[in-house]
Amino acid sequence: MKIKAINGFKDILPEEAVIWQHIETRARDIFHRFGMQEIRLPILEKTELFARSIGESTDIVEKEMYTFADKGITMRPEATASLLRAFIEHGMHVRGPVQRLFTIGPMFRHERPQKGRLRQFHQMDCEIIGAGEPEIDAELMAMAWILLDELGIRVSLEINSLGCRECRPAFRTRLVHYLRQRQEAFCTDCRRRTESNPLRVLDCKNPSCRELVQEAPSILDSLCPSCQSHFLAVQEQLQLLQTPFSLNRFMVRGLDYYSRTTFEFVTTDLGAQSAVGAGGRYDSLIGQLGGPKDLPGVGFALGMERLVLLMEQQDRTDSAPAASDLFVAALGKEAGKRAAVLVHQARLQGMAAAMDYSNRSLKAQMKQAARLGARFTLIIGENELEKQEGILRNMDNQEQVLFPLQGTPGEQAARLRTLVLT
Ligand code: HAM
Repeated sequence: MKIKAINGFKDILPEEAVIWQHIETRARDIFHRFGMQEIRLPILEKTELFARSIGESTDIVEKEMYTFADKGITMRPEATASLLRAFIEHGMHVRGPVQRLFTIGPMFRHERPQKGRLRQFHQMDCEIIGAGEPEIDAELMAMAWILLDELGIRVSLEINSLGCRECRPAFRTRLVHYLRQRQEAFCTDCRRRTESNPLRVLDCKNPSCRELVQEAPSILDSLCPSCQSHFLAVQEQLQLLQTPFSLNRFMVRGLDYYSRTTFEFVTTDLGAQSAVGAGGRYDSLIGQLGGPKDLPGVGFALGMERLVLLMEQQDRTDSAPAASDLFVAALGKEAGKRAAVLVHQARLQGMAAAMDYSNRSLKAQMKQAARLGARFTLIIGENELEKQEGILRNMDNQEQVLFPLQGTPGEQAARLRTLVLT
């Protein structure tokens, strides 16, 4: 019997990997422009880290973590907790008042796999630590917006505020009061959540629960003056940075560490999975994890698989770079030798070059060049060797020019480089 990959764990094949590389390259460039520095983190952490940060009564901690029961360690379900653990462990706050960090890698959640939802998935996660100003929230959202825009992906940005330690408890009490009065009408999950995590009832996907919460008290009416002015300033700044958004008072997020601003980049193109990326502020979390008290933070994560799906669906994958610059098709033994040296020189000079050593027909080699996505093919047969002129074909428009085979292989490769890479 053939051994297959585990359900919810996916291979990323070369043709898809090109899109992944394209997204990561664009992201790294934009993160750099915004002063973000990369941090690389382990995949395994102590289970307690996630219980204390994400929250004991969240779906992630209650039922989705891959935990090695006898060792008390867990495969990270998200990056924020790990990144803050590293930040605190290495005393990174002494490096400067504000640290801007990003990390890219796999996360693990034992969810029911479906389109856009995997058990091993990948996030690009950005965090700004040490700045509580609303401008920072807006800057992060604008950065993600620019990335999505440069990738050609169309999404909407929704924002909300979850208040703080001062104003959320009163809202929670009002909400629980409202929910308890209508208990019978809610689904079983929501009835349970009313006591354990009432805010989660607000984003239940069940249509009848959705309808019932339309009349529920709004968190935006319960914000204390300082949360309210923070949220207004975020909105003003987003307008200044020309980042379109809408308010969604039902957004509560599935992780408990948020305070004040939360946001999601959403789409209707991914079926049941609407969020391509999400994040928010977590001003008490660093202190809670044993770091400097009252050191604020804000961040977000974009889901790679969902970005790739959207790029494929919205026909944006053509912006990914061609896999190969040059294919040399050689016919005959002598031509094969010349081609091998030329391909080697081309690679030394920075071109992605390839050839076939099995002396197959020209037709077969041209097919292979097309499969590799080569932008140009240089054809060298016995005739061409005799005339000292190869045929250089532009694979996009099929135009052909003669290419002189004179000079050293290094000189020939340099001339090819000028023709192929311009
Ligand atoms: P999250 O909303 O749990 O937030 O995940 C962020 C993104 O990761 C989602 O919008 C989605 O694109 C992707 N994602 C999550 N679960 C899956 C899955 N099972 N399969 C595929 N993609 C998935 C966080 O993880 C927070 N740590 C974000 C954050 C950073 N908040 C502050 N800083």
